[in-house]
Amino acid sequence: MRLSTLTLLGLILPILRIYACNDHAHARRGGDGHGHGHEHGHGHGHEHEPSVPKGLSPPTRPLEWGDINILHTTDSHGWLLGHQKTSFPEPNYSADLGDFASFVTHMKKIANEKGVDLLLVDSGDLHDGTGITDGFPPGGVDAHDANEFVKMLPYDVMAIGNHELYIYANTLDMHENFVPALNGRYLSSNVNITVTGDDGNPLDIPVGERFAKFKTKHGRKITSLGVLFDFTDNDRNTTVQKVADMVNEQWFKDVIQEEPDLFLLVGHMPVSRDNWPLVFDAIRAVHPTTPILILGGHTHIRDCVQLDNRSMALESGRYMETVGWMSAKLDRKDSTDDIRFSRRYLDTNRVTYEYHTKKNDHEFDTSLGEKITNGLQDLSARFHLDTVFGTAPQDYLYLSAPYPSNNSLFSLFINQVVPVALQVNKTESAPPALFMVNSGLIRFDLYSGPFTRNDQFTIAPFADSFRYLSNIPLSDAMAAFNALNGAGDSERRQETEELVARHYDAIQGYERGEVDLIFNNWLKKMDQEIDVQRRAMKNLTLGYVTQDSCPGVGDDTQHATIPFFLDVPKFIVSEPPTGDDITSDTPIDFVFVDFIEGSILSILNSLQTEKVYTSNDTMRYSDLLSNAVLGVFAQEVWN
Ligand SMILES: *[C@@H]1O[C@H](CO)[C@@H](O)[C@H](O)[C@H]1NC(C)=O
Ligand SMILES: *[C@@H]1O[C@H](CO)[C@@H](O)[C@H](O)[C@H]1NC(C)=O
Ligand SMILES: *[C@@H]1O[C@H](CO)[C@@H](O)[C@H](O)[C@H]1NC(C)=O
Ligand SMILES: *[C@@H]1O[C@H](CO)[C@@H](O)[C@H](O)[C@H]1NC(C)=O
Ligand SMILES: *[C@@H]1O[C@H](CO)[C@@H](O)[C@H](O)[C@H]1NC(C)=O
Ligand SMILES: *[C@@H]1O[C@H](CO)[C@@H](O)[C@H](O)[C@H]1NC(C)=O
Ligand SMILES: *[C@@H]1O[C@H](CO)[C@@H](O)[C@H](O)[C@H]1NC(C)=O
Ligand SMILES: *[C@@H]1O[C@H](CO)[C@@H](O)[C@H](O)[C@H]1NC(C)=O
Ligand SMILES: [Zn+2]
Ligand SMILES: [Zn+2]
Repeated sequence: MRLSTLTLLGLILPILRIYACNDHAHARRGGDGHGHGHEHGHGHGHEHEPSVPKGLSPPTRPLEWGDINILHTTDSHGWLLGHQKTSFPEPNYSADLGDFASFVTHMKKIANEKGVDLLLVDSGDLHDGTGITDGFPPGGVDAHDANEFVKMLPYDVMAIGNHELYIYANTLDMHENFVPALNGRYLSSNVNITVTGDDGNPLDIPVGERFAKFKTKHGRKITSLGVLFDFTDNDRNTTVQKVADMVNEQWFKDVIQEEPDLFLLVGHMPVSRDNWPLVFDAIRAVHPTTPILILGGHTHIRDCVQLDNRSMALESGRYMETVGWMSAKLDRKDSTDDIRFSRRYLDTNRVTYEYHTKKNDHEFDTSLGEKITNGLQDLSARFHLDTVFGTAPQDYLYLSAPYPSNNSLFSLFINQVVPVALQVNKTESAPPALFMVNSGLIRFDLYSGPFTRNDQFTIAPFADSFRYLSNIPLSDAMAAFNALNGAGDSERRQETEELVARHYDAIQGYERGEVDLIFNNWLKKMDQEIDVQRRAMKNLTLGYVTQDSCPGVGDDTQHATIPFFLDVPKFIVSEPPTGDDITSDTPIDFVFVDFIEGSILSILNSLQTEKVYTSNDTMRYSDLLSNAVLGVFAQEVWN
């Protein structure tokens, strides 16, 4: 990363921060209440003065190397420029893809010196998540340009994710432009694409390869697969085969027949509560003791499971916050003893990378790393991602602040951002309005400092339009909101929950790729289970505190948990209009995003019988889409 005006502003702005009174918000600033957050404004410049963000202390202990060692990334979703904000825990994840490339180069060298193998593996979801992937100009393809840099890393195996499949053009781009760079190691065991064959007829073929068999540098024979969970929301002309069906295919049985030194199962499938056991059991039925290493993904958490003592399954988080490490000491070929595995979740920053490669800041960068960093910066400039809409006066958090509260991004969004942005340029005075959106519209925290075009992509990427019903009595609109959030007596609650389930879960849901619920529950559990002692330890900073089911401590750096507030409802509503002439009967404009229109119409119809509302009654409220309101608001209010 370069030291830009953004980072310089970041140095000054924390001083202006508004400090909240509640303990959690204090903890969020660095855990020690001493204004930790003030000291960490530095980015690191590659060109002239490499430096690490101040205040980052090294990991707890060196990595445990084995004969076979793996560096694992997953669900990077375009976070290739690293996390660039100065509020914690963001600096912990401040390394960019160039830094990671340098890290990989040094680690490969260490592996060579030790005479062991180091493999680089990715479990998918390269698309959707930041401006560098999603901010392409008209006519472009999501992640196409960003992936040019991913290609420059020496990945040994990559697997396809569900985010490669929502839009056919993205899958086709992977098939035509990305797969060839991986030389047969981009795996999609149960995912096909339909293309036009040479004869003009449709051709149904794997996006990448179904499997790969290869030998490592040190001569170990590996059989590798790339498996996607049972995803159903893929675009037309792409096919996802159920995992249970895949393991019954003849090609699968043929591939696993020959015994390698180890099976390397890479895939976009969580290591807990999903279908890895189907693949594992199919292999174990043929090879009871062959080592099986599994690298999973998709639910964005840090997790590890051992299905037996000669196997380990690791999942390495999200958004380039975590690099996973797995190592195994392989024994004689016919051994049945427990294999000695290790696993670690590395925070992605230069302190971590330099610690584990024993490099100082001046000798760390490689020419490949610098080339990638500079190339990504150029791409960012080409996509205008640094355009500043305004300067946020404080952090607004989506999961780590209570809702409603002054620190809650949901509160800011629904009470200020949406109402203000939708009134900009409206000449006639609009009737009083009540605004309602689904909380899933927000995907990330909004940190103090410059609010950029890239931030708009990371925080609110969904392009929903705002529609409204006019002349709805205020009390009816509020009743609809309350009912949708499951308030009221239990009978009614059950009724409305079923209603919501029908309309809402039809458009979200696990098999359609929705993972927020699992990720949020993981944070919630972390927040609840963290022992009081750890929370009180003044020297710890915020981050993940992972409790998985593998032996030993997984986190590379000790943290205190990020506070989590779970009571964010599915729907959020603006404060009702006030004034002398406003009563519960006052007719208002009831404004909502089109995504939840069906839920709102059904609930209104279940609450009263005078009128049957249909989509014909709703009208467009504004030309602004939900992915643009933050920018407009920042321009108006934070400038
Ligand atoms: C993460 O950030 C905190 C901030 O103070 C630091 O103490 C911790 O060591 C960082 N983690 C790593 C791996 O550098
Ligand atoms: C799928 O692709 C084939 C071949 O390119 C094309 O003929 C067909 O119309 C496509 N199907 C759909 C549903 O778009
Ligand atoms: C995927 O493509 C292969 C190769 O053409 C074909 O044999 C297989 O039936 C396809 N699988 C699915 C699930 O469409
Ligand atoms: C691994 O071995 C230990 C000790 O023998 C045993 O207690 C444990 O149940 C085994 N774990 C699995 C997953 O088989
Ligand atoms: C929240 O902000 C409002 C408006 O600035 C202020 O009146 C109120 O006291 C704040 N509440 C808290 C808990 O700080
Ligand atoms: C408001 O109008 C100005 C001047 O025409 C225009 O530049 C701006 O984009 C408009 N803003 C919105 C949110 O429509
Ligand atoms: C924090 O302090 C405790 C003892 O008070 C020590 O054991 C631990 O290693 C320290 N952690 C860090 C990250 O410095
Ligand atoms: C909406 O209006 C159109 C045209 O007037 C009509 O054909 C359609 O049935 C209406 N839809 C509903 C759900 O009432
Ligand atoms: Zn993902
Ligand atoms: Zn996914």
